Amino acid sequence: MKPVTADQAAINQAAELLRQGRLVALPTETVYGLGADAKNPEAVKRIFAAKGRPADHPLIVHIPDKAALTDWAIEIPDVAWKLAERFWPGPLTIVLKKHPDVPMEVTGGQNTIALRVPAHPVALNLLNAFGGGIAAPSANRFCRISPTQASHVEEELGDKVDMILDGGACQVGLESTIVDVSSGQPKLLRPGQMCKLEIEEVLQMELSSPQNPMIRAPGMMEVHYAPTTETFLCTSAQVQIILQGDAFQHQHKMGILSYVTEINSDLFEQVFQMPAEVTDYGQLLYSKLREFDHAELDLIVVEQPPQTEEWVGVNDRLLKATKPLMSPKRESSLLNDIFICDILIQLFMAIFR
Ligand code: TXA
Ligand code: MG
Repeated sequence: MKPVTADQAAINQAAELLRQGRLVALPTETVYGLGADAKNPEAVKRIFAAKGRPADHPLIVHIPDKAALTDWAIEIPDVAWKLAERFWPGPLTIVLKKHPDVPMEVTGGQNTIALRVPAHPVALNLLNAFGGGIAAPSANRFCRISPTQASHVEEELGDKVDMILDGGACQVGLESTIVDVSSGQPKLLRPGQMCKLEIEEVLQMELSSPQNPMIRAPGMMEVHYAPTTETFLCTSAQVQIILQGDAFQHQHKMGILSYVTEINSDLFEQVFQMPAEVTDYGQLLYSKLREFDHAELDLIVVEQPPQTEEWVGVNDRLLKATKPLMSPKRESSLLNDIFICDILIQLFMAIFR
């Protein structure tokens, strides 16, 4: 299935397909979604089949505006209205108690529901043309990198979807931030571009981040959003060591997504210096990982970007896309980095020998 330009005729056709219980991939400002009529259990089951996603992993329902909240949720607390008022349309998903009319297929059997008004003209236009809620997970196969361009959806699910609306490259590039306000204490279930502090400012209270969520959220599994090529997250000091390791460089086809380190592109198969700004970085991350993944490399190295609050969403996805070879709790010092990098290099050698 080739993507089609999302003009009004295509959007109307997509709305008709949704009414027939078929699957439509749509652009949102975060990532592309695989959409179906959220009130049609058979259509929703098709989403799970297409993605290869277990049926107990709940979906996000996209709605046209905050007024529609009452069609999908009950006992909506004031804080939910405040969040919706401040951040919708936008990359924030709010988890609430589900309305009894919402099919259990959508919520993976749970009594809560995740809702979002997307800030993308095509998604909003489609929601209005369709006139209902659109259940849409990211339009990738289960545990793979989310698509941020229509061509990525074609790669992932081309033969499993009835239409792919092309609305250009996604502006945010990372999945939405998810906040659960279905019980007294608001919880951050998935970080994103919208950071915790911005949300706390509106809530006027602290957001907790559960360590052991009871809910099975794919975004919380250890390896998720991952390229098929082995991918490692390295500090700048470790990247320096790799640059010096001549023999290693020549034995392996490596791709490096650097951050501050300037890298001679003759030395490696693929080199790209990521943008300095967090929003630009987030927008490009998945498409660069995908591009590197297609380059038949032996391994991909990503240089660690900053770890301040605004980078939490990016770092969360990086941790999920990369192998946890290093202990996150270790003391950080140059010497320590060099030492660990040495071990890493030996490990790489052992793996690829
Ligand atoms: O940006 C996004 O959120 C994109 C676009 C398409 O909107 N969608 C997306 O959907 O990332 P998906 O299915 O790939 O991730 C949805 C996340 C999952 O981690 C899921 O477990 C969580 O939302 N979720 C859905 N319903 C939930 C609920 N009732 N309680 C807790 N988490 C829920
Ligand atoms: Mg996903």
